[in-house]
Amino acid sequence: MRVLAIETSCDETGAAVLEKNNEIKLLSNITATSLAIHATTGGIIPENAAREQVKFIIPTIIESLLASEKIETSSNPEKDLKNVQKILKETIDVIAVTYGPGLIGSLLVGVETAKTLSFVLNKPLIPVNHLLAHLFANFISTNHEFRTPNFPFIGLIVSGGHTDLLYFESVKRYTWLGGTRDDAAGEALDKIGRLLNLQYPAGPEIERRAKLVEKPTIKFQSPLLHSKDFDFSFSGLKTEVYRFVKAGEAITSQGGKSIPNRVWNRSSTSEDLTNQICYAVQKAIIDVLVSKTVKAAEKYKVQTIVLGGGVSANETLRNEFKLNAKHSQLNAQIFAPEKFLSTDNAAMIGAYALMDYKPVNWQEVEANPELYFA
Ligand code: KG4
Ligand code: ZN
Repeated sequence: MRVLAIETSCDETGAAVLEKNNEIKLLSNITATSLAIHATTGGIIPENAAREQVKFIIPTIIESLLASEKIETSSNPEKDLKNVQKILKETIDVIAVTYGPGLIGSLLVGVETAKTLSFVLNKPLIPVNHLLAHLFANFISTNHEFRTPNFPFIGLIVSGGHTDLLYFESVKRYTWLGGTRDDAAGEALDKIGRLLNLQYPAGPEIERRAKLVEKPTIKFQSPLLHSKDFDFSFSGLKTEVYRFVKAGEAITSQGGKSIPNRVWNRSSTSEDLTNQICYAVQKAIIDVLVSKTVKAAEKYKVQTIVLGGGVSANETLRNEFKLNAKHSQLNAQIFAPEKFLSTDNAAMIGAYALMDYKPVNWQEVEANPELYFA
């Protein structure tokens, strides 16, 4: 069974082809991104993202289909189109598309393209929940030593828009345990990055700077670390960093006074200080993510933890998960997708569609920006 998967929920345009036999193999995975445009505005303006989706969608699908048959795009568009038509008709069994959550303008581009392909080619169409798909990126076989996670597992989705903890008994049976009450983990990193004048999206840069810190000197609170539920909250952290930065600016300009409850290294250059803040922010976020996820695994007595979403590309987060899981009573195994499958991509959409094969008439598929967990 071969799927052509399409992802356009936000600022990435993705098309991928996957095949399922005993395992799910990735035949092609093309991602076009409009990140450079959003970097100039310090965040995503939905109208801009949607316009870029319109520009990229057809070339991305063409490239992905050709790559699935190991054909490079040529300088002869007519020849490429003939090849693409043949590949679509003869090799693709089903089409999968993200129908939510996301930005309505962006989602519509992918959904309407997928519906048109389904109608014209008379092939089944599977609408996919983008959030859940982040976890199912872990089921894509990427090398010969590949292992898939076992059910049941605790899934943690940590992306730019979401932070959610779920208990999965099987592909079809899952329970939402908790999520963020305000900002998502990635959103907090990006907003704090803006405060520190880092480029959007700030997650990777915060990780890079945190790694440069040898002796941490600042500590921020991990929000809701000790609450009994599985909820998260990250907007307070942003405020804490804001106050810290503002206080630091005032003190530096006055020639220095100590800041209550903080160790302020007055000899720091501003670069060092930014790195220290990055370290402390990253640690505050990782500590609470790890602690609550491991607690959920203990409560539900599962030995598998599955991570997904852009923030799960963070190596420190992955390492902390591995360390803590080893030391918990469960000795849980940690799964995280390869980095290129952590951030938004179409491969994860195809993987979930192949694992949970539920075609829907194309007339019934609609973009749903508010989709959560159905
Ligand atoms: O899953 P994703 O690509 O898009 C959404 O569905 O939201 O996640 C994007 C988020 C951004 O907030 C970005 O800053 C964060 O993932 N991110 C990272 C890293 N790479 C991307 N956060 C921390 N460390 C990283 N290495
Ligand atoms: Zn995502």
